[in-house]
Amino acid sequence: MNGSAPTDSDGAAPQYGVGDASYRAAGGRKGVTRLVDAFYRIMDELPRAQTIRRMHPNDLSQSRDKLTRFLCGWLNGPSLYAEKYGPIQLPRAHAHLRIGPDERDAWLACMERAVAEQAYPADFAAYLLRELAVPAQRIMTVSRDPL
Ligand code: HEM
Repeated sequence: MNGSAPTDSDGAAPQYGVGDASYRAAGGRKGVTRLVDAFYRIMDELPRAQTIRRMHPNDLSQSRDKLTRFLCGWLNGPSLYAEKYGPIQLPRAHAHLRIGPDERDAWLACMERAVAEQAYPADFAAYLLRELAVPAQRIMTVSRDPL
């Protein structure tokens, strides 16, 4: 990995968000699994993430499985979450939690560190974090003004 974006077979830079370019840039299911493993390890360790860590069960195996599967579909890969757990509406799935700016930022901070550990091209890392901030913001808004 030389830090620049990989090119498609025609030599053009991948357009993240088009087709499954993002899923492929993330390394497919294996890559997403690595990202989510890092994300939850960091959530365990990071002092500012302890409030959101405590919202999760002690055993994170199912949380890990759910987030991995969800992100695969969210990146336009296979719909692995729906396949195992059924349909999901993200803000609704978080509506029972009190998520304000601190909790949103703690979640994004864990993700930022997890992304930084992956061998992603810099433009994909920046794109991914920008895109993840959108549902994070929406989840926070709905938590403040319940559906
Ligand atoms: C805004 C900050 C966020 C916080 C504090 C947060 C926290 C949580 C917590 C505590 C759970 C419940 C875990 C459990 O009971 O097993 C959860 C579930 C989940 N979260 Fe988040 N989350 C946030 C943002 C996000 C974002 C941005 C995404 C996706 C891009 C996401 C995807 C999921 C998924 C797929 C589940 C499983 C839902 C289910 O099956 O019920 N979360 N989250």
